[in-house]
Amino acid sequence: MVHISASADRITNICCIGAGYVGGPTCAVIAAKCPEIRITVVDRDPARISAWNSDTLPVYEPGLDALVKRQRNINLVFSTDIDRAIDEAQLIFIAVNTPPMHHHTHVSSLGAKPDLSAVSDCARRIARVSLTDKIVVAKSTVPCGACATIAQMLRDNAQSGVRFSVLSNPEFLSEGTAVRDLLHPDRILIGGDDMVAQDRLKAVYMHWVPEPNILTMNMWSSELAKLASNAMLAQRVSSINSISAICEAVGANISEVAAGCGSDSRIGSKFLRPSLGFGGSCFHKDIASLIWLSESLGLPEVAEYWHQVLALNRFQIRRFVARILADASRGDGSSGLQGRRVACLGFAFKEGTGDTRNTPAADVCCELLRNGATLSVYDPKVSRHHIVDRLAAAAGTDCSVDSVTVCADAYSAIAGSDIVVVLTAWSEFRVIDWEQALKLMAKPAYVFDGQIVLDHDRLRQLGFNVFSIGHTHVTAQ
Ligand SMILES: NC(=O)c1ccc[n+]([C@@H]2O[C@H](COP(=O)([O-])OP(=O)(O)OC[C@H]3O[C@@H](n4cnc5c(N)ncnc54)[C@H](O)[C@@H]3O)[C@@H](O)[C@H]2O)c1
Repeated sequence: MVHISASADRITNICCIGAGYVGGPTCAVIAAKCPEIRITVVDRDPARISAWNSDTLPVYEPGLDALVKRQRNINLVFSTDIDRAIDEAQLIFIAVNTPPMHHHTHVSSLGAKPDLSAVSDCARRIARVSLTDKIVVAKSTVPCGACATIAQMLRDNAQSGVRFSVLSNPEFLSEGTAVRDLLHPDRILIGGDDMVAQDRLKAVYMHWVPEPNILTMNMWSSELAKLASNAMLAQRVSSINSISAICEAVGANISEVAAGCGSDSRIGSKFLRPSLGFGGSCFHKDIASLIWLSESLGLPEVAEYWHQVLALNRFQIRRFVARILADASRGDGSSGLQGRRVACLGFAFKEGTGDTRNTPAADVCCELLRNGATLSVYDPKVSRHHIVDRLAAAAGTDCSVDSVTVCADAYSAIAGSDIVVVLTAWSEFRVIDWEQALKLMAKPAYVFDGQIVLDHDRLRQLGFNVFSIGHTHVTAQ
């Protein structure tokens, strides 16, 4: 165990390696809350750094723009000079990506060891560049034991006399509410065995986080708590989605069932919204990492348990597309959705973000394309080229994205369509003038609400055929 000198006490200079969805927002909040700390966010991708230094930030999050622009070049700096930022810092966050080893484009089917090569690169670089003692903090999500490996790498490659103390400090922000989550975290975990280093990081957070919410623990507990939290959140999504399938079969209403379950204080109402399933960069890979960890520890029953959470997530998408095919195929002998135009509302993996990593929308769109549909896609926060690139990656070789049009607003997407599918729960879809939308559509007009955001009774009154996840089939009145 290495103790960083307590005499240096307060942290005044932080470097964060990785200017992504975690590094950027986290550092903006630290800069805003800790005016005496200078924080430099570095990345090996110069385009990302110039975007952070521009008017259009590379990450969309409510409240982030104002925060970054207020602190930027005051005590928050975005730079590509990684070595200099490491050299000047007392504490270094590693917030680089840790993708799964096998390269699936959308949904994971097996456990997967996370690829820690970016983390290892950072550790080697920190060791090579550092001429003074540093606290190195793993903010990236890593499996149990990774921080011990980082500590070993730092020791093996350190300059003579330079000592490192490694801490695990996983990030729990949720995309779409990142700034709010960072400003009001439920808890901060600081794992490690160097209490002096833990206290110094704790002092940074205590600028705005109440002390009881900052939990210190051993390294493995901290690393595992992050994986377990994401797995449990994803498990709730799969649990309610499994019940939604039963609702459709028996005539129960999933919104009522969710309210009935969620009002039990032992269960709680959060994460009980039925949907097309979870997406994003974390849930799939963290469960895959947990499955891999369980398998490697000789716990196949545990691995199988978590594997079902992923399996159910895929099942939800298959069910949704099967419902569209069953209800809206022409029935005139033409195959599938041949000749049908589908307006896809939403593409981000959830509302409040422009992130499309593992978005269920891409899986649904690809299945619709494979079945012959023509698509017009609209998302308020995802650019045209992101939609096309993500679709092309998800489509693989067996379907073409040539018949996809990306539209600038919902009405343009809806105009001339036979079917509307809601793929992301953006609140602006609620306030679409559906009477007007119906006039723009071919008849009979169908709406398939994969996120339960629309007023289905009203749509039905207007003359739409409506299907919503977890509700029995409803046709036009
Ligand atoms: N996105 C989330 O919602 C979220 C939430 C909690 C935790 N996490 C975890 O945080 C970590 C980062 O996630 P993210 O979403 O910010 O990833 P990201 O892909 O948005 O950003 C990672 C950044 O690291 C940079 N990078 C990679 N290797 C580098 C290197 N060797 N040197 C310098 N820069 C390097 C990349 O260029 C990229 O800009 C992951 O482990 C993830 O699991 C993510």
